[in-house]
Amino acid sequence: MPSEPPSSSFKDRVTAKAYPTHESGGIVWTYMGPADKMTPFRDFGTDAVEPDHFQATKLHTACNWMQAMEGNMDTSHISWLHQWNGAADIPDDGSDKPGYPSNAMSWKFWLHDRAPRLDVQDTWYGFKYAGIRTTPNGHTHVRISAFVYPYHTVIASVPFTSRQSIFVPMDDYNTARYSLSTRNVENPQRIGGPGLFVVAPFEFGRAEVDGNGIIPRKYRADNEYGIDREEQRTTTYSGVREFVSQDLMVTESMGPIYDRTQERLGTSDKAIIRMRRLLIAAAKNVAEGGEAPAVAGDLDYRGIRSAEKILDDGEQWRHLGTNEDPLVQEMDELAPGAGQPVAGS
Ligand SMILES: [Fe+2]
Repeated sequence: MPSEPPSSSFKDRVTAKAYPTHESGGIVWTYMGPADKMTPFRDFGTDAVEPDHFQATKLHTACNWMQAMEGNMDTSHISWLHQWNGAADIPDDGSDKPGYPSNAMSWKFWLHDRAPRLDVQDTWYGFKYAGIRTTPNGHTHVRISAFVYPYHTVIASVPFTSRQSIFVPMDDYNTARYSLSTRNVENPQRIGGPGLFVVAPFEFGRAEVDGNGIIPRKYRADNEYGIDREEQRTTTYSGVREFVSQDLMVTESMGPIYDRTQERLGTSDKAIIRMRRLLIAAAKNVAEGGEAPAVAGDLDYRGIRSAEKILDDGEQWRHLGTNEDPLVQEMDELAPGAGQPVAGS
């Protein structure tokens, strides 16, 4: 085009297709659907946050997006895949009682009760559910995660978070996994709200992020995820050093797209079953000319949060992390505009 003669009208007749865009949370969002169906760009809690208060990352996953997302929505695997032998010996810091436990104690609880009971609640955005465990002191510990149509998840952390993981299909066999989170700029080592979060006592390697937010795949199938069999025998469940690569090892090694006709699902798959049913129902509805779910213009996506807590006697889990949760209101006052403390994992 630059070499076309100045008198040419070619430039007036050739156009490139363009889509509306919106920048928020370190990500450029676009709408690619029919113009007459366009909804407003969503605020996932990052629109009002200064650019250096959030971080977005992108990670390539070599398998079907649904498979990758199901791994994320499975609360039970934190009791297995990410565990290490020392978790049982974490000293009791007194937070095994109703309220918010330290992150270190959460690791202990996940290991202590490896068969959480699942309780699912449908919401306007999809559903949320609690993984319910009994602590060593006999209390009820809940991990609450959310599924947001069509491919967002918000995973439990102490005390609550709005951190999103988004599983965008690149094709049937490849997924771009985006994560966006707010961070504590006063102390970047401590992501999240003041005072309530401590780092995991065992430091699995953190995936490194390049200047564009891309996480290079250091541990892959072709290098066997760097698995250390000696470490697996003696120290960690997986033998893989990096936290997210432990997940990737499992979801990718199922094959690029898993044959679900061969599956036998159990009670610990309750959330995954719900997610599949909702997505299949939504897809059928859209195929028959109906509306996609959760597309109304006035829906407030900022209030979708996960949570983790030890319940008081008689306390219900459903209000935790919502706008009605007194702690959410209190944290919003401590860190104005954020209201979105995040634990990194
Ligand atoms: Fe995981």
